[in-house]
Amino acid sequence: MNKMVLIMNLEVYYFSGTGNSLVVAKDIAEKMNGNLISIPSVMDKKSITTNADVIGIVFPVYYLGTVNIPLVVQRFVMKLDDINTKYIFAVCTYGGGSGSTLTMLDKMIRARGGRLASGFGVQMPQNAFKKPFENKIKLYNNWKEKKLDFICEHVKAKDGWFDTDGLFIGLVVAIIERMMKLDFLSPFFLKSMKKTARLQEDSNFTFDEVIPFMDRSYTADENCTGCSTCSNVCHVCNIKMVSDKPEWKHNCENCLACIKWCPQSAIHGYGELPRGYHHPDVNLSDMLRKD
Ligand SMILES: Cc1cc2nc3c(=O)[nH]c(=O)nc-3n(C[C@H](O)[C@H](O)[C@H](O)COP(=O)(O)O)c2cc1C
Repeated sequence: MNKMVLIMNLEVYYFSGTGNSLVVAKDIAEKMNGNLISIPSVMDKKSITTNADVIGIVFPVYYLGTVNIPLVVQRFVMKLDDINTKYIFAVCTYGGGSGSTLTMLDKMIRARGGRLASGFGVQMPQNAFKKPFENKIKLYNNWKEKKLDFICEHVKAKDGWFDTDGLFIGLVVAIIERMMKLDFLSPFFLKSMKKTARLQEDSNFTFDEVIPFMDRSYTADENCTGCSTCSNVCHVCNIKMVSDKPEWKHNCENCLACIKWCPQSAIHGYGELPRGYHHPDVNLSDMLRKD
């Protein structure tokens, strides 16, 4: 692995709700001596420029076939400036497949004058499903023992590798993404999201516009102690505490951090999700907003 050590100035930007993408970003930054930077922490800047010659962007896949990329990550890319000479790579973590996520990201980066030089997908436990994932250990080991070195090798070589989902998953995911774009199916999914977001079904909201309102389905039950963990773990500052209870401000990324990191499991949303999931190598203090 260390045969060809190139001197590079690396910054790894990440967004993560339950730690999967954080572990990936942190491990890459550590292995390659890079700086680890949380995407929301730089979002107050009008424009993001950097002296780094290599930029990594690590994030979870959301809503395959619709937005694919968390909205805050999209906004981050749209703030990147002077990137035409940079080697930019991305790693998306996902539960089932990555589909066209990396292609979509490349388009956004091209709109800023750069390009996505290489892209990788890392399968991790699906944090948004009701059913607990059974293969967790296998996925964690695959990351540590194989994929981490694989990505670092490609980035060090500054080559143009792009992961694909493989034949079977690739086909399934391509069908799902196509279905989500069909004129008669897309409104159906959008309608069900609008219902969760308590928006009028006949309103003109697009997927991007509905997502911030999905927090309207979030509630804190009587076990809430008013500890503010939810508010402090929300990287986009979408939760304010009012009379010791969380209130969501409808600028939600749907990262599930408030639900998953609540010490009392008092927050509910999206029906009954497995509230306790987070990556085992990440603890609450790693996730707390540093401001
Ligand atoms: C709102 C939401 C939507 C998701 N949509 C997808 C999806 O369409 N396809 C998929 O494979 N995984 C999906 N996932 C699963 C996450 O991409 C995956 O578990 C990821 O590793 C979570 O990363 P994190 O722990 O860094 O937040 C979704 C997760 C959330 C919270």
